[in-house]
Amino acid sequence: MISKSPLPCVRPAGWKLLATLALVLVVMVWYSISREDRYIELFYFPIPGKKEPCLQGEAERIASKLFGNYSREQPVFLQLKDYFWVKTPSAYELPYGTKGSEDLLLRVLAVTSYSVPESIQSLKCRRCVVVGNGHRLRNSSLGEAINKYDVVIRLNSAPVAGYEHDVGSKTTMRLFYPESAHFNPKVEDNPDTLLVMVAFKAMDFHWIESILSDKKRVRKGFWKQPPLIWDVNPKQIRILNPFFMEIAADKLLGLPIQQPYKIKQKPTTGLLAITLALHLCDLVHIAGFGYPDAHHKKQSIHYYEYITLKSMVWSGHNVSQEALAIKRMLEIGAVKNLTYF
Ligand SMILES: *[C@@H]1O[C@H](CO)[C@@H](O)[C@H](O)[C@H]1NC(C)=O
Ligand SMILES: *[C@@H]1O[C@H](CO)[C@@H](O)[C@H](O)[C@H]1NC(C)=O
Ligand SMILES: *[C@@H]1O[C@H](CO)[C@@H](O)[C@H](O)[C@H]1NC(C)=O
Ligand SMILES: *[C@@H]1O[C@H](CO)[C@@H](O)[C@H](O)[C@H]1NC(C)=O
Repeated sequence: MISKSPLPCVRPAGWKLLATLALVLVVMVWYSISREDRYIELFYFPIPGKKEPCLQGEAERIASKLFGNYSREQPVFLQLKDYFWVKTPSAYELPYGTKGSEDLLLRVLAVTSYSVPESIQSLKCRRCVVVGNGHRLRNSSLGEAINKYDVVIRLNSAPVAGYEHDVGSKTTMRLFYPESAHFNPKVEDNPDTLLVMVAFKAMDFHWIESILSDKKRVRKGFWKQPPLIWDVNPKQIRILNPFFMEIAADKLLGLPIQQPYKIKQKPTTGLLAITLALHLCDLVHIAGFGYPDAHHKKQSIHYYEYITLKSMVWSGHNVSQEALAIKRMLEIGAVKNLTYF
């Protein structure tokens, strides 16, 4: 019998290979540990109570399939300097741009703010959830899960008080327009909630200016009377960049935004919020989106009030077209649904 050496014989070339492998392993481990999110991705084992794995730039990467090379340089909120020092020209009028409303906007921006809070800026990876107002949130018990996201975006006057178990209680941002503003924002929002105004028409700037600068209130020009007294901290108000309306209409719904007068259809605040989240966040989940199907016409569309699909007929929104847009986003993995869609 030939006696074998206790160690397998390794030729010099083999040693080199082994050393290279070891080096690669060391670099991998170092890299993984330096980035917690990467670690979770490479060696995925879910830890109970841990947050969703989050990959930096993931939402942007997938969303570019929908939006093309849309500019991440766009500020999320309109800034005073863009209207004061440099007069940034806008191609479109409201709601797709600010053309013709610059002077009014300048006065609004002078008393509000535009910064993205440091608590969001500083995150390595931003996990966001957009909470729709849909009836599907009823008895969903999603409250605790929703509160765990870094950024919770809510819509219009959707209440939180009394619904915490299903919808959570944290609100990082709330998108609204004058007619959809909650009459008592302090009850439904956190002290640091950003109130993000979506302007559809010049009157919307008039309204917020009259509230914040305590000028004579405007009562005409709204389809529903907005609050005349509104107890908010002006520093919590932001004006959403109309760019998001433009890309939601153009890229998600295929609306011809060059002729805004010919088309009455506009994206809903919900679709706008998803568009914003895809721009701001690294991971985007949605909850409470979708409407009752044709067999449940009598079912409410909202989790907090009884109102049916009929009310959407004259709203200027096409809910079936938006559903197709959201389906597409789910299919390509740009967003993930927490409730049935
Ligand atoms: C985005 O830009 C890059 C380089 O500028 C180009 O190669 C790519 O095709 C563009 N993608 C889309 C969807 O336009
Ligand atoms: C929610 O749960 C309650 C109590 O279990 C029940 O009475 C109610 O019908 C449920 N609502 C919906 C919309 O499922
Ligand atoms: C809404 O969108 C759907 C799907 O794109 C389309 O078939 C329908 O005609 C649209 N409805 C209206 C009122 O424009
Ligand atoms: C998301 O929606 C799909 C149907 O479109 C459904 O099968 C799935 O269960 C939903 N996910 C959750 C978590 O509800």
